[in-house]
Amino acid sequence: MILTITLNVALDKYYKVPSLVNGEVNRVEKVIPTAGGKGLNVARVVNELESTVTATGIVGGHTGNLICEMLDAEGLTYDFFKVPLESRTCINIVDSSRNSTEILEAGERIDPDLVTEFLNKVTDLICLADIVTLSGSAMKGMPEDIYYHLISIVKEQNKQVILDTSGNLFAKGILAAPTLIKPNRQEIEQMIQIKNASIEEIISFCEEYITLGVKKVVVSLGAEGALLITGNGVWKGEPPKINTVNTVGSGDSMVGALAVGLSKDYTDEILLRYSIAVSAANTLTESTGQINREDVSKLYEKVTITKLS
Ligand SMILES: Nc1ncnc2c1ncn2[C@@H]1O[C@H](COP(=O)(O)OP(=O)(O)OP(=O)(O)O)[C@@H](O)[C@H]1O
Ligand SMILES: [Mg+2]
Repeated sequence: MILTITLNVALDKYYKVPSLVNGEVNRVEKVIPTAGGKGLNVARVVNELESTVTATGIVGGHTGNLICEMLDAEGLTYDFFKVPLESRTCINIVDSSRNSTEILEAGERIDPDLVTEFLNKVTDLICLADIVTLSGSAMKGMPEDIYYHLISIVKEQNKQVILDTSGNLFAKGILAAPTLIKPNRQEIEQMIQIKNASIEEIISFCEEYITLGVKKVVVSLGAEGALLITGNGVWKGEPPKINTVNTVGSGDSMVGALAVGLSKDYTDEILLRYSIAVSAANTLTESTGQINREDVSKLYEKVTITKLS
């Protein structure tokens, strides 16, 4: 089973408006609510790829109940830790020119005792998992080394763990040497503090993570594809040129594919090819985490892989 952990679940609301005028009454034409948080996108993709998945994380209040109902309707298996707090709501307002304005609630602060109880619950769930994914930001009140703790728990149980986050959560999490990390180009540039870093600079920085004990580093480069750095070499994979519909959540789709690939013991090259095909397939559909398996098969054949060293 693949377990996806989402520390900052949200109810995402997409508001379609003709135009958005500051200081005026703005009427919404269409509302599309989704159960959001990066780990839930990962879970959707794993489900679409027909691997067994459980989504966990923290939810609460009426919004938390609504999120659970929405996941029931989608047929996604979840096992959340419920807290006496209201889950947050995030609004994305899109006008007819496709300008997007996001209004993100910070969410309520969680008490340290509840964080401890959550970690106990997750430890039990990890026992049932083969692969664990950790994605996105954390709730207010969670310690910055929470991913470090979670990674250590997974590794104590000899399971594999993928980390996909940014900033201090990433910097501290990485010290526990997760099995695989999937930063994007910006996240690596933030770590090395170089703007427009060259591929060589990115690779030599990522090789330090391998020295630290990380087994595989996948650096996603948007339409350009991705790099895979392991102890066995460095590869670059490129998807074919495609007409994308919605690129939101491509990174999450890639993490879903990487989790499935690890669970099936794919070789490095196949893992890279497969994760690029799946994430590129996600960009061909309107909704995040939706994958057409025929697209994956066609794209899989068209990904080009080059061994760089
Ligand atoms: N325009 C595109 N055409 C083809 N493939 C794409 C495109 N954009 C993204 N992808 C695929 O998705 C992967 C992940 O994309 P990206 O690097 O944008 O991730 P990300 O920044 O982590 O995304 P997010 O965090 O928003 O989910 C890429 O490595 C690539 O395989
Ligand atoms: Mg990302």
